Amino acid sequence: MTMAASFAPSTTQVLPATRLEGDLRLPGDKSISHRALMLALLGQGESRITGAADGADVRSTAAVARALGARIERSPGEAGNVDYLVMSGGGAGLRRPSGVLDCGNSGTSLRLFAGIVAGHPIEAVLDGDASLRARPMARVIEPLSAMGARVEGARDGRPPLVVAGRRRLRPIEWQTPVPSAQVKSAIALAALAAEGTTVIRESVATRDHTERMLRARGVAIRTTDPGDGAVIEVDGPTTVRALDERVPGDPSAAAFWLVAGAIHPDADLLVRDVCVNPTRRAVIDLLERMGAAIEETPIGPTASADDGEPVAHLRVRSASLLAIQLMPGDTAAAIDEVPILCLAATQARGRSVIRGAGELRHKESDRIAGIVEGLSALGARINVDGDDITVDGPSDLRGATVDSLGDHRLALTFAIAGLVAAGPTTILGADSVAISYPSFFADLERIRS
Ligand code: S3P
Repeated sequence: MTMAASFAPSTTQVLPATRLEGDLRLPGDKSISHRALMLALLGQGESRITGAADGADVRSTAAVARALGARIERSPGEAGNVDYLVMSGGGAGLRRPSGVLDCGNSGTSLRLFAGIVAGHPIEAVLDGDASLRARPMARVIEPLSAMGARVEGARDGRPPLVVAGRRRLRPIEWQTPVPSAQVKSAIALAALAAEGTTVIRESVATRDHTERMLRARGVAIRTTDPGDGAVIEVDGPTTVRALDERVPGDPSAAAFWLVAGAIHPDADLLVRDVCVNPTRRAVIDLLERMGAAIEETPIGPTASADDGEPVAHLRVRSASLLAIQLMPGDTAAAIDEVPILCLAATQARGRSVIRGAGELRHKESDRIAGIVEGLSALGARINVDGDDITVDGPSDLRGATVDSLGDHRLALTFAIAGLVAAGPTTILGADSVAISYPSFFADLERIRS
């Protein structure tokens, strides 16, 4: 049998594939989809968003934007994505929500909306599911408080967060304690209400969609690279123009197919319209360093070169991989792709080391524990030493029952592992793929034989 059959609400079985072949269209980039909705809320007038991701995380953002005053119409788009028409009174029209703002599983929604609410004279409670309630928020509470907003978390600064914002904030100079695009973005969004220039320093440049999208909407925001990270300056107070956005495919979703194509012995996959922004493409470059055969065809940016996103089709074919060493900067640049890179390392010759992976303990689950336990159960040789992950390869994987811990990126990684493992792989909590990639199992069926 070659099918992936679902036999319980959240348990899915994946059987080994004899061949992987076909074209894939991805969910719209999750980070850009969130920001497009948030900036449409801040821009006065109409904004059309095409090709937004339809996963549960982006739906949470749309619901919160509605609760803060945006009128949002949603219609089916291409490739399982959605198009949004957002009508907003802009920042000045933001309204105090009548209930708790439920961010579900989405850290991006909670942290970025905390920054938005901080710069408006409203009070809101931001909350989420059990996974989100376990995630650290001091990293946004501290800078937003320093800017003059009142932000309080529950136990140890975890959600729910109560945010009481102000019409005007103080500009700050802030060094982010860990590389985090969410923290940088929360500060940059609050900086729109600051009286003066806010400066954010990061030791490793993280994804820069917020900067590109604010610049495209008329905000004076500059990025410089002094050689050891990035410095971002935002001039406030300022407003955000309404603007249409076309969302490219999510490179973090593409990563699953790139690894599938690279490690399966008989594979030829074409992944279309992938965002290849330099701050997102680390996984492509790292796989190429491992020996993956990836052919990149640029198809032009989504807007002007500075403000838009570079996009390419990626074709991947089977290859034999070599082990890789990731330094902490590489790990930070590919933070969402570490689980799938660990799977690639199980099929690569030699010892791979992924250094400085500690942040993975604070994602939707403890991803270090989850990946080590799951891949070990499948026969991989994977160990953790402090914040470093070591994988010895190649290993013959064999199907087993693995627990995704309700984490979409772990479920997706184990599903790809199931394509190359001998015998059936049973994934507990596989429905979590709906957080970022609702059509994943349908796509998997289409390209496998
Ligand atoms: C994201 C930033 C990253 C990433 C997350 C999305 C974003 O989180 O892991 O999936 O859209 O800004 P951190 O900022 O916590 O590293």
